[in-house]
Amino acid sequence: PETPAAEALQHAEVAALLPRPGADSDKYRRGVVGVVAGSARYPGAAVLAVSGALRGGAGAVRYVGPAGDAVIARHPEALVSAGPPSKAGRVQAWAVGSGLGEDKERLEDVLAADVPVLIDADGLRLADEAALRARTAPTVLTPHAGEAAALLGWERGDVEARRLAAARELAGRTGATVLLKGSTTVVAEGRGSAGGPGGGPDGGGGAPVRINPTGTGWLATAGTGDVLSGLIGALLAAGLDGRDAASVGAYVHGMAGRFAPRPAGASDVAEALNAAWRDLLAG
Ligand code: APR
Ligand code: MG
Repeated sequence: PETPAAEALQHAEVAALLPRPGADSDKYRRGVVGVVAGSARYPGAAVLAVSGALRGGAGAVRYVGPAGDAVIARHPEALVSAGPPSKAGRVQAWAVGSGLGEDKERLEDVLAADVPVLIDADGLRLADEAALRARTAPTVLTPHAGEAAALLGWERGDVEARRLAAARELAGRTGATVLLKGSTTVVAEGRGSAGGPGGGPDGGGGAPVRINPTGTGWLATAGTGDVLSGLIGALLAAGLDGRDAASVGAYVHGMAGRFAPRPAGASDVAEALNAAWRDLLAG
């Protein structure tokens, strides 16, 4: 049968995909997330991405970069280091790029590992398209319209006018899962999800584009994208494939935007992830 071009994410479908710890869980089964984000100029991006990862159900979060002191001050449970990511210890998925500045070295170190990676913000600008295509582990890109336009060589207005086509085109070019952020967030698959329809090395996986219905304009405040990057990193570390991690992340993040006090800052949205999670677990 023909697969639909796009479908809205369903609450029950997201609830079923949500990782839940069992009696035999340990931190490695829940997933260790590595966060490579923030810079001297944007230390807050590191804190927000770590918040999203912790509230995304991670078994542990390792932060690697120059903002370790700020991260620890807010999240004493984080494990921080400042060397190369490949020397940070066991990591089951990376969230890289939010507020990263020009740290291409750490980005390339992360991309060289055969571990799922989410790439956001500055990481999108610094990543090499050929390096993305060469990856075999799940790769998720989370551009907003401006970042997607820069990657595609389109005008920003054309991305806004043709959001589904833009996400599909970028997914096809990179082979990655593309989550295009904005008033309506969409998730396009590059190679086809594991076990899903379509797929193949040439991109444009046959899986329908997923449309997130939970977004709210209250999320339009600086730093909420950084929270989303850590959240999706945690879902990848828990073992979800790129398409499911991106879709569940967008859905839960949108719910947090609805549950957070209004008007909310990005930290409030990160805190409200608990409430979103609880609502989904309750069925
Ligand atoms: N409706 C629903 N969701 C929205 C809306 C909207 N109208 N506007 C934004 N959002 C959501 C997006 O889907 C995304 O999840 O808010 C989040 C914003 O993420 P980003 O665009 O990555 O913004 P962020 O990085 O947090 O902060 C803005 O981005 O362009 C840079 O330099 C700029 O510092 C600025 C930063
Ligand atoms: Mg951003």
